[in-house]
Amino acid sequence: MTGATNDAPGRRTAGERYGETLFVRDTPEHRRLRLLGEVFDPLSIRTLDAIGVRPGMRCLEIGAGGGSMARWLCGRAAPAQVVATDLDISPLVAQPEENLLPLVHDVTLDDFPAHSFDLVHARFVLNHLPERDEVLRRIVRWLRPGGVLVVESFSWFPVDGSPDAGYRKVLLRWSELLRDTIGTDSRWARNYPSALAHHGLRDLGANTVTQHVRGGSDLADFWRLTVGMSKEQLLGKGYLSAKEYEEFAARMRNVDFWDLAPALTQAWGRKAWGRKAWGRK
Ligand SMILES: C[S@@+](CC[C@H](N)C(=O)[O-])C[C@H]1O[C@@H](n2cnc3c(N)ncnc32)[C@H](O)[C@@H]1O
Repeated sequence: MTGATNDAPGRRTAGERYGETLFVRDTPEHRRLRLLGEVFDPLSIRTLDAIGVRPGMRCLEIGAGGGSMARWLCGRAAPAQVVATDLDISPLVAQPEENLLPLVHDVTLDDFPAHSFDLVHARFVLNHLPERDEVLRRIVRWLRPGGVLVVESFSWFPVDGSPDAGYRKVLLRWSELLRDTIGTDSRWARNYPSALAHHGLRDLGANTVTQHVRGGSDLADFWRLTVGMSKEQLLGKGYLSAKEYEEFAARMRNVDFWDLAPALTQAWGRKAWGRKAWGRK
C-alpha cells in the first residue's frame, strides 16, 4: 500500500498514461467498453436529447471507446460528419458508419482548428487526464460560437457514504490506484459546472444520476470487470488483500447485494456568440 490518501486528486506519481498498464486494450477492455455503453448510453442520450442534437450539427466524440455514443450521434447529426477520436480506434473502425470519421487523436496533444464543432461530447475521459484543465481550455477553442460542450464522469460520493465497509474500501482503493498511477481524479466531476464557467461557457447546466447496483446486473458486471482489470496492481501494490478483492467480486455476482454505485455527473455549457454575449450576465 502506498499510504496515499485521497487529498491530492490528480497527482501523478508514476507518470503512466491510460491504456499503458491500466485499461490495456484487449478482450476484457473491449467487453468493458461495450458494457459501459449499454449501462450509461440511455443516461447520456436523455441529456443530449434534452440539449438537442439536430441534423447537420458537426459533432466531436472525444475518447469514443466502444463507439456507441459516436454511432448514436451519427444517426442524429446526419448528413453531417461525426468525428470520433481515441488512442485506439479499432472498435470504431470495426463498425463503420457513412458519416463517422474515426481518428487516432490524443486529446492532450493533438489539435483541431478553432470553431470546428457544434457539439463536443466527452464521457469518462477528462477524469483520467491529469492535464484536464488545459484539455478543457483547448476543447472550448474547438467549439464554434454557440456550440455546446457536454462532459460526463463519475462522482464518488455514493461510495464514500456506503455502510458496507468492504464494498466501500475496494472502490476507494481502486480509485486511489488510478490516481497514483495515471492521475485519475474521481472527485472532479462534481465541480464540472465551475470548470466550464471558468473556461467562459454560458447557459450552464448539470445533473447527477445515482443508480443502485444489484449483484448480477449489467452495472455490477461492469464494476466487477472494471476493478478486475486492475487486480494484479491492486493486490501486487498492496492496495487490497486477495480476500477483500474476492469478496467484492462475489458481491457483484450476488443477486441479494444492493448498494449505490458511483454516480454519473453530467454538465454542459454553451460557447458565447460574440463580444456582446461575453458581456452578458
Ligand atoms: C473509460 S473509457 C470511456 C469510453 C467512452 N467515452 C464511453 O463512455 O463509452 C475512456 C476512453 O478514453 C480514451 N482515452 C484515454 N486517454 C485519451 C487521450 N489522451 N486522448 C484520447 N482518448 C483517450 C481511452 O482509450 C478510452 O477509450
